[in-house]
Amino acid sequence: MSDIIKVLAPLIEQINKTLAELIDSDAEIVARISDYSFMGGGKRLRPLLFCLITSALGHPLTPSNLATGVAFEFLHLASLLHDDIVDLAEIRRGRAAAHLTFGVPETVLAGDYLLSKAAALGADTDNIDCVKIMARVVRSLALGELMQLSARRRVNLSEIEYFRIIYRKTAALMEGAAQSATILAGAGERLAAGARCYGRQLGLAFQIVDDILDYQSDQQTFGKPVGHDLDEGKITLPFIRARDSLNPARRARLCALAGEDKISHQNHEEIAALVAEGNGTNLARRTATELTQKARIALNLFPPSIARKQLTDLTLHTVNRSN
Ligand code: IPE
Ligand code: IPE
Ligand code: MG
Ligand code: MG
Repeated sequence: MSDIIKVLAPLIEQINKTLAELIDSDAEIVARISDYSFMGGGKRLRPLLFCLITSALGHPLTPSNLATGVAFEFLHLASLLHDDIVDLAEIRRGRAAAHLTFGVPETVLAGDYLLSKAAALGADTDNIDCVKIMARVVRSLALGELMQLSARRRVNLSEIEYFRIIYRKTAALMEGAAQSATILAGAGERLAAGARCYGRQLGLAFQIVDDILDYQSDQQTFGKPVGHDLDEGKITLPFIRARDSLNPARRARLCALAGEDKISHQNHEEIAALVAEGNGTNLARRTATELTQKARIALNLFPPSIARKQLTDLTLHTVNRSN
């Protein structure tokens, strides 16, 4: 466990306690699916972002603040429940994906329930700007997943298109969590812009690292299978960077292999070798590092504090994480 995650353990504990109190569905199946998915693990990154920004503004973490932070975890978990159905993913947080354990219809509806729960928590803030942010985030998550679906196996996907997808499916949620924290803490526009920038850059870097780990990690460490993105037809930054670095013949080979409907074990290995030959994961990691540098610069708008330092450490952890 990295130092920053150890330091944040008491806050994560507080978040988990609030989370357990807030899952209060009287539909037994929803309670079972939520318990199962939350107990499976998860880093609680979105509520952490919300709470640390709140503290970095010198605002106390009230129970109602914590509940708003948890609303962002509900949005996140809803997106994961739905995402695993869309992606035909079998493992999540180190255990069988919820749709395989409880059924697809049940899991779709539990995801919907969590979305409604997040909306209700948003409304509880009595702050229309917060409600608008959450609505925008949900729309963005859905659009990001839809754009990704339509980009399936498009081996010529441009970097701009890739960034549009990952902004929508991942970074918008972190940007929204960070911005809501500034609104509820009563901070001005300058700090809100800084928090938005931090959340956005961290979110983009976070997804790039997720995409790198899909090429580089192992299932035990990562908590989900590796190499799955290619099976799903997902063209991610390590692939794009390698594709654009290879000579035309090698590039054509890489694209032909990755464009196939079903990728054999042998072809997987050849693709991984070509991505390594094109230096894809290193180049992608360089970009993730640059994005986290921008996130750290945005933090300079905040006065020095322990929470600000922890937000800085989170950016470093994001690039170096293994799960
Ligand atoms: C997984 O998010 C989905 C991505 C945005 C890559 P996390 O890696 O934050 O998932 P948990 O919450 O820790 O399981
Ligand atoms: C993560 O997309 C974003 C959302 C869940 C909306 P991925 O499909 O890359 O996430 P994993 O790899 O399944 O966690
Ligand atoms: Mg997925
Ligand atoms: Mg992934």
